[in-house]
Amino acid sequence: MSAVSRGTWKSNTGFILAAVGGAVGLGNLWGFSYSASQGGGAAFVVLYLFFVLSVGLPVLTAELVIGRHTGQSPIRAMGAIASRWKWLGVVFVAVGFGILSFYSVIMGWTGRMLLDFALGWVPSDTGTYFGQISEGGDAVFAHALGMILTILIIAGGVQHGIERVAVVLMPVLFLLLIGLAIWAATLSGAGAGYGFYLKPDFSAVFRQPTVTGAAGQAFFSLSLGMGAMITYASYLGGKGSIPGKAVAIAGADTLVAFVGGMVTFPIIFHFDLLADVNESTIGALFIAVPRGFLEMSFAGRLVGTFFFLALYIAAITSAISLLEVCTSAFIDSLGWERKKTAWILGILIAIAGMPSALSTEWVGFLFALLGQVFLIFGGLMLALITGYFWSGTALEELRRGFDSAALATLWIWLLRTVVPLALLVVLYFSISQTVIPAAKALFGASS
Ligand code: PFF
Repeated sequence: MSAVSRGTWKSNTGFILAAVGGAVGLGNLWGFSYSASQGGGAAFVVLYLFFVLSVGLPVLTAELVIGRHTGQSPIRAMGAIASRWKWLGVVFVAVGFGILSFYSVIMGWTGRMLLDFALGWVPSDTGTYFGQISEGGDAVFAHALGMILTILIIAGGVQHGIERVAVVLMPVLFLLLIGLAIWAATLSGAGAGYGFYLKPDFSAVFRQPTVTGAAGQAFFSLSLGMGAMITYASYLGGKGSIPGKAVAIAGADTLVAFVGGMVTFPIIFHFDLLADVNESTIGALFIAVPRGFLEMSFAGRLVGTFFFLALYIAAITSAISLLEVCTSAFIDSLGWERKKTAWILGILIAIAGMPSALSTEWVGFLFALLGQVFLIFGGLMLALITGYFWSGTALEELRRGFDSAALATLWIWLLRTVVPLALLVVLYFSISQTVIPAAKALFGASS
């Protein structure tokens, strides 16, 4: 298959915005703040940064190197490294399929909130209201609509679909977030919110769930461990600096998460929502925060609209990266045509998302299993493969457009030692502490 028929990015900025769009999602705007609120504020932020630098960046770099070198979607890319690794590419595509199936459901709730805030239809009892829109017919409808939008963008292709949307929507998202952060700074609870967010409580950090949480959050947020970055990098030509791109992507993703906290913490403190946030993650975002906005009548309606618009933009640019992983694999491996592939896979994913649209417990379970454990596992495998079996070629590819031999050596060293060790530990704890409890909640086993 020629490079032309696979598609390429029009510009480096287009690639960066698309990749940042894939990375910045619901995970940044909510997951990060939630984890920080539970994990010692600034202490969590420091731990998170440490993890992004020592584990996230090396794995992100590995994905970009694999994608650009092979110029192929995950299954063929892993097969190009050695045919015995092809199965890992298949796992990546399956994980992308599974993550999108529930991610699109959450995106649907977000879209519904956006619409209802814009129209002034959110009732004061946000708890009952969220119960109605999050499970059942309404959720199915919003999920299906989100999938159709995602399919249409992917059907448009790399340049005319993904890149065009990212180039327009990402700046809008940045502006919305800056505006929201400025508005949040004017709230009376802002000082207390920042204080909680930025005051380090190091005792919380050394509690084990915080460490696992920071690692899982970083992987999910950076979209690592399932070939999304391999796929996007496979449309890169040329020989620009890969570490430069990795730093830009990880930096933007982290910055957005941080600014997300500057929006949410003042809201939480202004409206006195900390107790609700401690109770549940999703509930806080869709029940407590909207209740706060409603207290402010018209201004709240406006801010609520912008807030959920920002979330929707963040979500859909991530959803398209997930569908692209699946679509590109079928195009490259089976020679299918893009439009047809996008529709077939998108519809199958929409169907696979039905259990999540009918029960929020499915969302929790799939997130723990696929969004945490499988991504960590994928990252572990990528580090081992790149570090031990493919380091010669990987180094050569990295050095195209990158001068520092010392940093290149450090990269391989990290992939061989720190990264796998850290990920193994995290994998163990996330299986025992997230998947098993989520499975019990779903399947109703007594614990
Ligand atoms: N990074 C996205 C977020 O933070 O919401 C989620 C995600 C998107 C994970 C794409 C994995 C992926 F391939």
